[in-house]
Amino acid sequence: MQAAAAGGGARESLGNKAGGERKTVNRILEKQDLSENVVRMVLEAPAIARKRRAGQFIVLKIGETGERIPLTIVDSDAEKGTITIIFQVVGKTTTVLAKLNAGDSVNDVQGPLGNPTEIENFGRVVCIGGGVGVGVVYPLAAALKKAGNTVTSIIGARTKELLILEKEMKEVSDRLIVATDDGSYGFHGFVSAILQNLIDAGETIDRVYAIGPVPMMRVLADLTRPYGIKTIVSLNPIMVDATGMCGACRVSVGGEDEIHLRGRTRVRRPRGGFQPPCEPAPNVPGAGKTNT
Ligand SMILES: Cc1cc2nc3c(=O)[nH]c(=O)nc-3n(C[C@H](O)[C@H](O)[C@H](O)COP(=O)(O)OP(=O)(O)OC[C@H]3O[C@@H](n4cnc5c(N)ncnc54)[C@H](O)[C@@H]3O)c2cc1C
Ligand code: FES
Repeated sequence: MQAAAAGGGARESLGNKAGGERKTVNRILEKQDLSENVVRMVLEAPAIARKRRAGQFIVLKIGETGERIPLTIVDSDAEKGTITIIFQVVGKTTTVLAKLNAGDSVNDVQGPLGNPTEIENFGRVVCIGGGVGVGVVYPLAAALKKAGNTVTSIIGARTKELLILEKEMKEVSDRLIVATDDGSYGFHGFVSAILQNLIDAGETIDRVYAIGPVPMMRVLADLTRPYGIKTIVSLNPIMVDATGMCGACRVSVGGEDEIHLRGRTRVRRPRGGFQPPCEPAPNVPGAGKTNT
């Protein structure tokens, strides 16, 4: 992991380098409403765009005294010096952020943070996104495709109007299957039913990546376990420092102390105490790896 101001990632800096306070300002270059309460933004962030890998995130602060919130880097363009975020409006900061427009700025963007997702040519992979989770699974599908995998993507939403990134997911997938809970578009039912159909049809699946609401990920992990299909999910616990220092984002899995290394994560109980959750300490075996 990169070292940063507080232990991870870079800080996009503009401003007084002559000894005064350094302020960081990131311009919003594009804004688009993807669905009700889901917004896509392209931000100016050249240093992050250069370093970012699939699965990493930023921490963003809107104003001088605003709350810092973590958001996944959905896409980046190193040449243009931009990163893309997609967020759901759920509370105070995301509400304020959604009111900003192209030409406005956010105060502070730090990243890339967290462990990149393990990307290799695994063979035949299935990428599953639910709701705003489609935005988070998109960079993984793109990276897996680029690494040579045959990518089947399954994306779902409650209803057609809430479905996001269909075109983009199609572009990075060999096959895209769409589901809506109410049957208003595509398959009528849950993404898990589609995955079960693929397994029942005897398809070879070497890995599953599933990102969406926790109940969806739990169902998918339970579904693949008996077949021994390695399944990577993304947990997004509330974070404080987001650099592995405070331990706030630790999650418990299977009754053991577990380490959250940015969502899709390996969890391990290190000898001799707690491991920082969102970023691994250097000497922890397996730290930084993804797993089921
Ligand atoms: C590593 C990481 C990556 C993330 N990537 C994305 C992303 O790409 N797009 C996106 O829309 N969201 C993402 N999130 C969640 C996002 O950070 C929260 O939705 C955001 O911080 C909410 O801020 P708020 O001030 O608007 O809401 P608040 O007013 O703080 O909270 C509103 C409601 O949302 C809940 N909430 C707050 N934070 C989280 C969280 N981390 N997970 C689940 N519920 C939460 C609160 O409990 C509360 O019920 C990510 C979270 C993490 C940890
Ligand atoms: S948020 Fe502090 S260790 Fe992850």
